[in-house]
Amino acid sequence: MVIKPKVRGFVCVTAHPGGCAAQVQEQIDYVKAKGPVKDGPRKVLVIGASTGYGLASRITSAFGSGAATVGVFYERPSEEGRTATPGWYNTIAFTRAAKAAGLYARNFNGDAFSDPIKQEVIAALKADVGPVDLVVYSLASPRRTHPTTGVVHKSVLKPVGTSYTNKTVDTDKGIVSEVTIEPANEAEIADTSAVMGGDDWEMWMNALNDAGLIAPGATSVAYSYIGPEVTWPIYKNGTIGLAKNGLERSARKIDAMLKVNGYGRAFISVNKALVTQASSAIPVVPLYISILYKIMKAKNTHEGCIEQIQRLFATQMYNGSALGFDEAGRVRIDDWEMRPEIQTEVAKIWPQVTTENLATLTDIAGYRTEFLKLFGFGLPGINYESEVEPHVVME
Ligand code: NAI
Repeated sequence: MVIKPKVRGFVCVTAHPGGCAAQVQEQIDYVKAKGPVKDGPRKVLVIGASTGYGLASRITSAFGSGAATVGVFYERPSEEGRTATPGWYNTIAFTRAAKAAGLYARNFNGDAFSDPIKQEVIAALKADVGPVDLVVYSLASPRRTHPTTGVVHKSVLKPVGTSYTNKTVDTDKGIVSEVTIEPANEAEIADTSAVMGGDDWEMWMNALNDAGLIAPGATSVAYSYIGPEVTWPIYKNGTIGLAKNGLERSARKIDAMLKVNGYGRAFISVNKALVTQASSAIPVVPLYISILYKIMKAKNTHEGCIEQIQRLFATQMYNGSALGFDEAGRVRIDDWEMRPEIQTEVAKIWPQVTTENLATLTDIAGYRTEFLKLFGFGLPGINYESEVEPHVVME
C-alpha cells in the first residue's frame, strides 16, 4: 500500500516503515560519527525504548559503546493492510542494525507498569545477559494500571491551584489562539503522579536488585523537564511537574539503594524540550518549541534527541569523572536551551506571535517537519509514492 501521513490533532495515525528505519539509521550514523563513548555502558535496559529519548538512549548505548540492549516499550504492531505505531518500526530497524553489528538486542512489547513484563525481562536478563550496568527509565504514558490495586490512573496536563491562560498553537492548522486550562483537582494530581512519578521506576529497580541483576557501580537515569517560566503553570508547577518532583524523590531512593549495592548511582537528567509524541500533546509547549527551534537553529545550538543523549553520555555519564549536578542534584543537559541569550529571545518573541506571523517569527515549519519525521515521513531517499508492505514482523 502507499502510506501517507494522516494527522489527527496531535497524532499521526499512520507510520512509514521505510521512513522510520531511515530516521533510526540517521541516529545510528550520528552516534558512530561522534566516535566511541569511552568506558560507556555494556549491558543496558531501556524502559520506553522505542521512540524519543529512550530510543536515542538505546542507540547511543549500542552504537556508542557496543552495549547489549534490552528494550521495553508499548507499541501497536502492524497488521495486514494496517500500519504499526512508529516505535514498532523503529525497534525493528534498530534490532536489525544492532544484530548486523554483532550486538545483542532483545525486545519486550507490553505494559512496563505490569508485573508480568517485569518478570519476563528479569527472566531474559538472567538467561542471556546477566546484571545490567545501566537502566534508562524513559516512559511517557497517558495511563497506568497499578500492578497491585488494579486501579487505572490517568495522567492529565493541567495547572495546579488556579486556571492558566496563555497562547497555544494548533500545529496542524497553524492557528494561534488563547487557551484557558482549568486547574486539576486532588484526584487528578494524585493520578498524574501515579503515572509519571517514580513509583514504577522504583518497582523496576527493586525487582532487578532482588533478582541480583544490577551490576556493581551501575547507573540509572530518568528524564525530566523544567523549561522557562512561560510554561511553568502547565509544566513545572502543573500536574506533570509535581509528578516529576516524585521522580526526583525516587532518584534519591534508588541512588541510596545502588550505593549500598556497590557504589552505583541514580539521578535525573533534565533534557531539552523537543518534538516527540509525548510533548506534542501538551498545550502551549508546541508553540514554545517552535520559537525555541527558530532561535537555537540561528545560533547553531539546536539539538534533537540523539544529540542530547549522545552529549549526556559522552560529557556527563561516561566522562571519566564525576557528574556535574545543579543545586538540586540534577544533571542539566537542557543547559543550552536555558542560556539567558536564548530565553531572552523567546520572551521577546512570545507576546508578538499571531496566526499571521507564525511562519516568520517561529520555526513552525521545522516543528511540522520533525513531527512528521517521528512517523517516518519526509525522510530523504524514501519514495513516498511507491507501494510498501505495512505489515512487518518483529523477530
Ligand atoms: P515518547 O512518547 O517519544 O516515548 C515514550 C516511550 O514510552 C515509548 O517507547 C513508548 O512505547 C513507551 N511507553 C509508553 N507507555 C508504556 C507502557 N505502558 N509500557 C511500556 N512502554 C511504554 O516520549 P519522550 O518525549 O521521549 O519522553 C520520555 C521521557 O523524557 C519522559 O519522562 C518525558 O517526560 C521526558 N522528557 C521529554 C521531553 C520532551 O520535550 N519530549 C523533555 C524532557 C524530558
